[in-house]
Amino acid sequence: RKKILLFCDPGIDDSLAIMYAMLDPALDLVGIVTGYGNITREQATANAAYLVQLAGRGDIPIIPGASSPVQQEDVIFYPEIHGKEGIGPIRPPADMEYHIYPFDTIRTIIERYKNELIIVSTGRSTTLANVFILFPDQMEFVQSFYVMGGAFFVPGNVTALAEANFFGDPTSSNYVLTFAQNLTITPLNVTRHAVITPGLVDEIAQSKKNVYSFMIAPIFKYYYRFYKEKTPGIKGAPIHDLLTVMLVKNPDLVDYINYDANVAEGIETKGLSYIDVRPSRPKGQTRIAIDLHYEKFIMRFKEVMVPEY
Ligand code: BDR
Ligand code: CA
Repeated sequence: RKKILLFCDPGIDDSLAIMYAMLDPALDLVGIVTGYGNITREQATANAAYLVQLAGRGDIPIIPGASSPVQQEDVIFYPEIHGKEGIGPIRPPADMEYHIYPFDTIRTIIERYKNELIIVSTGRSTTLANVFILFPDQMEFVQSFYVMGGAFFVPGNVTALAEANFFGDPTSSNYVLTFAQNLTITPLNVTRHAVITPGLVDEIAQSKKNVYSFMIAPIFKYYYRFYKEKTPGIKGAPIHDLLTVMLVKNPDLVDYINYDANVAEGIETKGLSYIDVRPSRPKGQTRIAIDLHYEKFIMRFKEVMVPEY
């Protein structure tokens, strides 16, 4: 099974990514690092703890990470997309008990799964950049990285130029893109097409084998309402972060270009992701997902989220 350490900010699509990782028998979620982003770090931590507990996996270490970006600007949250508490109308029970692990647990996890650990990042890059700074020797032994972020040749989602994860902390994003070896980026190019539709959500909601089925419809309703308002003609809501987790086992769901990526840090261009296409320059090794094979994506998604499928 593929060992995943997930850096995230749940958040609706992060929450769906956690559910997916819990349900896919081919994946082994060995820890969740929570940071600010869609909501505060504290809320992200509680949400992650709730989701693993629902699947009877309260033993998975939850490790709080960064609470703000390195630029120390005001953090912008996105309640209109994800809800004030991050999972639409769903809230962890007020009396929920959970244990949080110290930051150094990240180092321990990397050492324990030396050469087989896969790091997936579906939130702002701040915490992961700090892990590179704090534990550079250990990071050499991470097998591969998957990062949801950026928008190449397509508009952003928080500004005309920028996607939310890279916009949230462009300095840290650049740091991660520079030091992460064997890196796959899942930008808006593909994730905006990875939509789940009301019909599909009905199927999940009826699943007797998916422990999260009871919350799928209310979460989707909240999330879809935002996208329907903003994107004329959209048939469903994009699950950016879940697609990123899916690629770990299903690299063939997308087509890639191989270029190293950069993130602009200037004021007007903040968070813009770009590649250097000048013929005289080396292209680099990063796999940037460019096109999604939608039918295949839906088929594989259902195999995990509607296990009786
Ligand atoms: C990304 O930003 C967040 O709001 C989502 O959870 C996703 O990770 C999409 O731009
Ligand atoms: Ca996210």
